[in-house]
Amino acid sequence: MRKIDYTKYPLPRIRHHANPVLYFPLKQHKGSNFIYPPVFDSLNWKEFFADGKPPVMLDIGCGLGRFLIETSLDEPGKNILGFEVRQSAVEWIDGVISGEDLPNVKALWYSAVNGLAFIETGTIEKVFYFFPDPWVKKKHYKRRAFSVEMLAEIYRVLSKDGKLYLMTDVPEVDEFQQEVLSGFGKFTFKYYEKSEWDLNIMTNHEEFCTRKKIPFIRMVCIKK
Ligand SMILES: C[S@@+](CC[C@H](N)C(=O)[O-])C[C@H]1O[C@@H](n2cnc3c(N)ncnc32)[C@H](O)[C@@H]1O
Repeated sequence: MRKIDYTKYPLPRIRHHANPVLYFPLKQHKGSNFIYPPVFDSLNWKEFFADGKPPVMLDIGCGLGRFLIETSLDEPGKNILGFEVRQSAVEWIDGVISGEDLPNVKALWYSAVNGLAFIETGTIEKVFYFFPDPWVKKKHYKRRAFSVEMLAEIYRVLSKDGKLYLMTDVPEVDEFQQEVLSGFGKFTFKYYEKSEWDLNIMTNHEEFCTRKKIPFIRMVCIKK
């Protein structure tokens, strides 16, 4: 697989978190006195991918995009779309994408809590939701994007054999996600060992955990 020299793309100062309003759906906000990523009902895929076709993989909360970019190199015939709420991270990723002329990958400045209306039902093979911000303080739980509403959207866009992949190094997040999955009820889910995991590419945070020997879980959710 082609290797990218990321040192050609100096990272800007990227804040750890975005403005808190961005973690809540736009429709919950009154007024317009804040900057918020656009919310779309439809997207023109010709503006996103060289073949003009829709994505078949989604990376929700793609961070600095290592997994997103390298998965696009690993699966050149498939389009992958990442969502990220921090605009500077998206701009950096899109700089790498255009600098390297990558045809099948795009990062979108978007808060995933607004749903996936612009994705056709039953068209997605894989949804990745890796190492979400943990928001461990009780008063911040509401900032977690993982909810029954989001699962319903993921369930809708996944194809019959589609899979939702999860990883986290925070046990409370794993427990919380399992509660939400059980409440939603339409996915079976189980832990995977590294040897059973069918993804070759590591995310930025997975690489960090691996290097620091921080344990984390891998889970795959399948439509019942
Ligand atoms: C801890 S980072 C993990 C990034 C990447 N998935 C990885 O494994 O390296 C979590 C990312 O999710 C993004 N995020 C949090 N809430 C989001 C939301 N509602 N919509 C889109 N991205 C979100 C954060 O800005 C952050 O970049």
